[in-house]
Amino acid sequence: MKRPIYLDHHATTPLEPAVLEAMLPYLTEKFGNASSRTHAYGWEAEEAVETAREQVAALIHARPEEIIFTSGATESDNLAIKGVAWAYRDKGNHIITATTEHKAVLDTCKALEKQGFVVTYLPVDRTGLVDPDDVRRAITPRTILISIMYVNSEIGTIGPVAEIGAIAREHGVLFHTDAVQGVGKIACEVDALHVDLLSISGHKIYGPKGIGALYVRRPQRLRLQPLIDGGGHERGLRSGTLNVPGIVGLGKACELCRQLWPEESVRLRRLRQRLYEGITRELDDVYLNGHPERRVPGNLNLSFAYVEGEALLFSLKDVVALSSGSACTSDSHEPSYVLRAIGVDDTLAHSAIRFGLGRHTTEAEIDTVIAAVVENVRRLRALAPIGDLKARLGR
Ligand SMILES: Cc1ncc(COP(=O)(O)O)c(C=O)c1O
Repeated sequence: MKRPIYLDHHATTPLEPAVLEAMLPYLTEKFGNASSRTHAYGWEAEEAVETAREQVAALIHARPEEIIFTSGATESDNLAIKGVAWAYRDKGNHIITATTEHKAVLDTCKALEKQGFVVTYLPVDRTGLVDPDDVRRAITPRTILISIMYVNSEIGTIGPVAEIGAIAREHGVLFHTDAVQGVGKIACEVDALHVDLLSISGHKIYGPKGIGALYVRRPQRLRLQPLIDGGGHERGLRSGTLNVPGIVGLGKACELCRQLWPEESVRLRRLRQRLYEGITRELDDVYLNGHPERRVPGNLNLSFAYVEGEALLFSLKDVVALSSGSACTSDSHEPSYVLRAIGVDDTLAHSAIRFGLGRHTTEAEIDTVIAAVVENVRRLRALAPIGDLKARLGR
């Protein structure tokens, strides 16, 4: 059976063949433990890990010693937020974040609230942007951390991270960004963004699953309490035998992104525009969710009025793999909390589809998807009790 076109690159990306090739020796003959200091097996593993650390650092313009390997961005977010909260408890108990963050940030903050921390969840505007002035106003003498994502995983909006980072620095507050959906896709330089901590995930950038990194600014002493106690790996911040093949894969994926993203972003923007124009030329009552310009090149999030998103996804499933929101919440029937936060009403939120274009998406695929979406939206609209739906939408 022919597999559907893959347009869900925010959920995960295919492993790049060159990444697999780089990893394979470390799954077979080069199986050493990177902490083994007494023989060649350990040395070659350690060398590979340090090369990967350089590759990851280079992509975000950091220094290798500022990179901590983790099991993925969920762990990186937890380590950044809980690590700062626990280490700076003596200084304060207040954290600032936003309502549209990924669950890895939101649920970490909720867990900290149960431990006596106070969290401010800032609202966003209709395009998904946090107002940097709201951040400034929310800072108190008890604020120890601000965590605002770089790119939203549902609507693709690129947050004003550099502005917020400057405000954090001005007030002597640490600043973390979940950059999972931005790294390797748009410019992402830790100094330009004024970040102290930054989360990365391997499987969103054509690397393996189960590997990620946390950038931790040096040299000023940034205290971080580890989540995991043990052998003291990764400067004591992340104990546990290093996942050498995963780390090598992440490094290679970062190296490829560094070479490819500038051209790739131009190509994806063009394809995304083709998709948007192709759909909206043929269909009325299609609404763009997120920011019209400040969005990551591979993201298009559209609401198709008078159509149930789930029904549309189901009718398209043999042609194209899509999602209605983030993978972790797509099995719930609640409308997306991100779309709610930007003020999309529930009916339109239920009709939203996220198109996630990627490195291997072709123009021919986009044209196939346009035709399938147009055909199926028309068919579903013809079946739907439009009078009811129009009344529900207040038209
Ligand atoms: C913005 C964002 N943060 C964090 C994560 C979690 O990353 P991982 O799968 O590496 O734990 C994701 C993945 O869905 C994401 O999109």
